[in-house]
Amino acid sequence: MGFTSKPFSEQVAIVTGGGTGIGRAFAEALAAAGAKVIIASRREEVLRRAAAEMNTALNAERVFPYLFDIRDRAKIEELVSDVFERWQSIDLLINNAGLAVPETVDAITEDGWDKVMDTNLRGVMQLVRAVLPHMRANDFGDIVNVSSQAGKHGYADVPSYCASKFGLLGYAEALRDDVRKTGANIRIFNFCPGLVEVENIRPDQIPREGFIHVSNMARTLMYALSLDRNVVLEDISLYAK
Ligand SMILES: NC(=O)c1ccc[n+]([C@@H]2O[C@H](COP(=O)([O-])OP(=O)(O)OC[C@H]3O[C@@H](n4cnc5c(N)ncnc54)[C@H](OP(=O)(O)O)[C@@H]3O)[C@@H](O)[C@H]2O)c1
Repeated sequence: MGFTSKPFSEQVAIVTGGGTGIGRAFAEALAAAGAKVIIASRREEVLRRAAAEMNTALNAERVFPYLFDIRDRAKIEELVSDVFERWQSIDLLINNAGLAVPETVDAITEDGWDKVMDTNLRGVMQLVRAVLPHMRANDFGDIVNVSSQAGKHGYADVPSYCASKFGLLGYAEALRDDVRKTGANIRIFNFCPGLVEVENIRPDQIPREGFIHVSNMARTLMYALSLDRNVVLEDISLYAK
């Protein structure tokens, strides 16, 4: 049985943390391809400015700021129902928001651990749980998770971050198994980047040694999404050689 496709110009995407860094590069690429993109995170001014800059560059209103904290379950549900009510579809969810609290194994605090887990893992589970019924009902959807090389390898300075990013990949694998078993037209992609230069980097700028330019993330996203709907692309590792 063939799976339905949909051009980007008819798609609605949520990009968490879409006002900065990797998320912003994703939002820019998707909006340039014609999608409506909701960028969602905590700092209103950052979101508002990012959306205005992207819309001005496109000369169209395609990027929409949405204030939310991924650690707040009520806000997650509000985000999903507001987006669905306005556009009757959520075609792409990019779980990009994330943070690290650098605390070594001896020094991990409950607060640090909870902050990382709630943001990088629990929030993703809640967001996916809220979005999935809409994707199933519309028989179309893509979920993209931004894990890390720290989801593949352990680093002594950020054990909680590593645990959350490993956990994200495990969760995503279970999710992929679920959509396969239920025959849903939903694909799951995981990014596992190494160091990505995200701070004020111009398109033509050479990144620091050991870093990749953030534009590579966006280009890889658009490539991955362009694949046939029955293709599974396992974790995408990309890092500077
Ligand atoms: N840059 C790298 O080298 C690299 C490498 C591997 C993986 N990653 C991953 O890539 C993702 C994006 O990181 P980045 O490098 O682009 O850094 P960034 O600019 O700091 O992006 C993180 C984004 O997450 C948002 N965020 C953080 N906590 C949130 C919360 N509680 N609720 C909602 N939004 C929240 C932030 O916005 P607010 O603060 O306004 O909420 C921000 O927009 C992260 O998951 C990170 O772990 C980055």
